[in-house]
Amino acid sequence: MNKKKIILAYSGGLDTTCAIPWLKDNGYDEVICFSANLGSEFSPEDLERRGIQTGASKVIVKDLREELARDYLIPGLKANLIYENKYLLATAYGRPLIAKYLVECAHAEGVNTVGHGCSAKGNDQVRLDVTVKMLDPALKIVAPLRYWELSSRESEIEYAEKKKLPIKLSKEKIYSIDKNIWGIAVECGALEDLGNATPEDSYVMCRRIEDTPDEPDYVSIEFLKGVPVALNGKKMSFLEITENLNEIAGKHGIGRTDMIEDRIVGIKSREIYEAPAGWTLIHAHKDLESIVLDRETLAFKEIVALKYSQILYQGLWYTRLRESLAAFVEKTQEKVTGIVTVKLFKGNLIVTSRQTPYSMYKMNLATYGDGDEYIRENAEAFIDLYAMPFLEK
Ligand code: ARG
Repeated sequence: MNKKKIILAYSGGLDTTCAIPWLKDNGYDEVICFSANLGSEFSPEDLERRGIQTGASKVIVKDLREELARDYLIPGLKANLIYENKYLLATAYGRPLIAKYLVECAHAEGVNTVGHGCSAKGNDQVRLDVTVKMLDPALKIVAPLRYWELSSRESEIEYAEKKKLPIKLSKEKIYSIDKNIWGIAVECGALEDLGNATPEDSYVMCRRIEDTPDEPDYVSIEFLKGVPVALNGKKMSFLEITENLNEIAGKHGIGRTDMIEDRIVGIKSREIYEAPAGWTLIHAHKDLESIVLDRETLAFKEIVALKYSQILYQGLWYTRLRESLAAFVEKTQEKVTGIVTVKLFKGNLIVTSRQTPYSMYKMNLATYGDGDEYIRENAEAFIDLYAMPFLEK
């Protein structure tokens, strides 16, 4: 008889670790793990070793950091995507990409079932399922957390201890953590009580403000058509720039947010996010845009960013609407070229200088000093006409 096989999206965390033996106890002869390397806290070697130790027949790890940067993070940066003002969407960017390769892996291995360890109340199950369905509606999707008997993280830890599974959590340190090159998300445990301030042990990439240096650092970021291409005068890849900025901005406590967010399934949840590089890049990018774009494009771009962020959050990356918004954003980036210098200090991002060949800022019009070429007399007639539609008397 044919063996019953499943390809499991595996992160090495508590849920997917418990899922391997559970699937084997519940009808699957073979669990093949697929792990996307998006810059998580676990090394590929570690994942492979622990996956096999947990009972997987094979662990396939694919380095997708370049693809994540090129096809997701860079378009997202051009659009300045932020969900509900506080979340830079690190996890959300990764999910359609993971789903894409999960499907590819199922095809390559000749398996018709894919599985994941997403919780039944989270966004990730929606993002993965919806993308898998869009790419191959014939694949069966198995999500044990939606119906297994392990109804809490505590009971999963007991299960893992009983089965001697290699996990790095305990009931004391029970956070669910998802990390990639764009940032980290921390949830669960003590955070669920809104009366609790951010616990000290929940800081990962960012220092607490109390522990940040008393001297600032300055970073200059060069953009070419909306894409960061150099840091402090040195040409670097997007990945290198992000890595460097995570380090240096994280040291200054930049990019940490604590929020109550609205999930797709309708519940509100408390989340802690850290994205030092992401916040620095978006801050600098927006600043440059404010110089090279006209006010109508800037204002419309804000509306696009709001909708685009929701689409990404809701797992609808592979849709016509997302592609259409991306095409608009792409067009706006033609002149987003220049260098922005940012001071990093005590959790703050302060732009100290900007240079661009496409500046729409005209000092001879803006100045209150000598050399003013603005025609002051025109203002009165302009305002007469400008006010006209609103005059009721
Ligand atoms: N709430 C965030 C989101 O939906 C973070 C999810 C974190 N995921 C995780 N598996 N820990 O994007």
